[in-house]
Amino acid sequence: MATYDLVVIGTGPGGYVCAVRAAQLGMKVAVVEKNATLGGTCLNVGCMPSKALLHASEMFEEAGHSFAKMGVSVSAPKLDLPAMMNFKQQGIDGNVKGVEFLMKKNKIDVLKGAGKILGTGKVEISADGKSQVVETKSIVIATGSDIARLKGIEIDETRIVSSTGALSLDKVPGKLLIVGAGVIGLELGSVWHRLGAEVVVVEFLDRILPGMDGEIAKQFQRILEKQGFAFKLGAKVTGVDTSGKTLKATVEPAGGGAAETLEADVVLVCIGRVPYTEGLGLKEAGVALDNRGRVQIDPHFATSVKGVYAIGDVVAGPMLAHKAEDEGVAVAEIIAGQAGHVNYDVIPGVVYTTPEVSSVGKTEEELKQAGVAYTVGKFPFTANGRSKVNQTTDGFVKILADAKTDRVLGVHIIGREAGEMIHEAAVLMEFGGSAEDLARTCHAHPTRSEAIKEAALAVGKRAIHM
Ligand code: FAD
Ligand code: NAI
Repeated sequence: MATYDLVVIGTGPGGYVCAVRAAQLGMKVAVVEKNATLGGTCLNVGCMPSKALLHASEMFEEAGHSFAKMGVSVSAPKLDLPAMMNFKQQGIDGNVKGVEFLMKKNKIDVLKGAGKILGTGKVEISADGKSQVVETKSIVIATGSDIARLKGIEIDETRIVSSTGALSLDKVPGKLLIVGAGVIGLELGSVWHRLGAEVVVVEFLDRILPGMDGEIAKQFQRILEKQGFAFKLGAKVTGVDTSGKTLKATVEPAGGGAAETLEADVVLVCIGRVPYTEGLGLKEAGVALDNRGRVQIDPHFATSVKGVYAIGDVVAGPMLAHKAEDEGVAVAEIIAGQAGHVNYDVIPGVVYTTPEVSSVGKTEEELKQAGVAYTVGKFPFTANGRSKVNQTTDGFVKILADAKTDRVLGVHIIGREAGEMIHEAAVLMEFGGSAEDLARTCHAHPTRSEAIKEAALAVGKRAIHM
C-alpha cells in the first residue's frame, strides 16, 4: 500500500496549491482528482474560461464600437463563435497543462479517481470499477463547490444552463434570461450581451451584487443599463415552460403578487454555489458539516476527525479561487508545524466586467452596521487624466478610513482595470496603513492608479484634481 505524508482530495486552486506548498516543505504528497483534467472548477469551468470569453467578447465589442473614434478604421467585426470557443479552450488547456507540470516538478503523485475518506489516515480512490487504498499522515479535503439549483427548474445545459453551459453555447441566444444578479450573471451576461444577445436579469433582492458596497453597486447597475442590460429586481423565476420553441419563464415579485411571463431562448440559472461533498464518505468517517452543508473546520482548518483538514469552497467564507489558494498554503504550513495564516479581512473581490468592479475590506453598510465611525474619500475617473485621454471615464474610487485613526478599512473601485488597481489597497491594508500613507505615496503619472491617491487625499478633503 502506497503511503504519503499528505493526500489532497481535489485539484482546484485550493488543492493543487496546497499540494505544491506541502511538497516544498518536504512532504511526500499525492493529489486525488475525479475529473479528467486537473485544475478544478476554476481552470475548467470557472475563472479561466469565463475570463477568456470576457476578453474575446470585449475585443469584439471594442472593434465594433470604440476603434472608429480613435481613428482606427476597420470593417464591422464578424463573430466566429467556434473560433472564440477554441480560443477559450486553448486557454484552459494551457493552464491545465501548467498544473500537470507543477505536479511533476514537485514530485506529487496524481491519483485519478474519486476519493473517499475511510477515517484517519486512509483514502480510497475509485476509478473505472477499480479501487485502491492509500495511507497518509494527513488528508486535506479540497473538493470545492457545485452549482445551486432552483426547485422545479431542470438544468439541461443547452437551453436552461448553469455557468458551465453558458460558457459553451453553440450560438448567441437572441434573448438571454439570467436568474441572479451576482458575479456569474453579470460576467456571463456581459459576454453574451457583447456578442449580440438581449439580456434580462431577474434578481430576488432589490439590488445587484449583494455583498458589494451599495453605492458602487448602484452606479454599476446604471452603467450596465446604459450598456443595454435590463434588470428586474425584487423578483424571482418560479418556473420555465420548455414545451415550445421559445422558453417561457414565470416571474413573480419576490414578496408575492401577480406573475408575468418572460420569453427567452436561453435561461441561465446562477443563484450561488453549494459545497461539494458527495461520495467523500464524510458521514461514515465522522467529519462534521455545518448547517449549510460546508465542512466544519476550526481556525487551523482541522475538521472533527484527527488528521483531516478542509479548505476552499467546501468550507465557509467567500467562494473565490485566491481564498482557496491562500488557505491551501496556510494548511500545508500548519501541517508542517509552521504558523500558516489567512487574513480574511483583506481578501479582494473582482467582477471582471467592463468596467470592472473591485473591492477589499469593509463596505460602508458593514461599517454602519458595526457602529464604526468612518470618513469617506471618493474620486471619479472623469477627473483622472489618463482615463480622460483614453475616454474610459466610467466609475470612481471610494476609500473608507477609520475616523479616529485614519486606518484604511475598505477600498471599492468601479472602473477599467479596477481588478488590477485594488492590490495597492490590499497591500496597504495588510500593513495596517492609513489614508494619509496612501495619499503621500508617489503615484506614476499618468496612470489610473492616481485616482486611488486622489481618493486618499479626498479622505482628508484635499484632492488636487477635483
Ligand atoms: P474547485 O476548484 O471546485 O475544485 C475541486 C476539485 O475537486 C474538482 O476538480 C473536483 O473534480 C474535485 N473533487 C470533488 N470531489 C472529489 C472526490 N471525491 N474525489 C476526487 N476529486 C474530487 N473565483 C475567483 O476568484 N475569480 C474568478 O474570476 C472566478 N470566476 C468564476 C467563474 C465561474 C463561472 C465559476 C463557476 C466560479 C468562478 N470562481 C472565481 C470561483 C472559483 O472557481 C472557486 O472559488 C474555486 O475554484 C474554488 O477552488 P477549490 O479548490 O476550493 O475547488
Ligand atoms: P452569487 O452569490 O454571486 O449571486 C447569486 C445571486 O442570485 C444573488 O444576487 C442572489 O440574491 C440571487 N438569487 C438567489 N436566489 C434567487 C432566486 N430564486 N431568484 C432570483 N435571484 C436569486 O452567485 P453566482 O453569481 O452564482 O456565483 C457563485 C460564486 O462563484 C460566487 O460566490 C462567486 O464568489 C464565485 N464567482 C466569482 C467570480 C469572480 O470572482 N469574478 C466570478 C464568478 C463566480
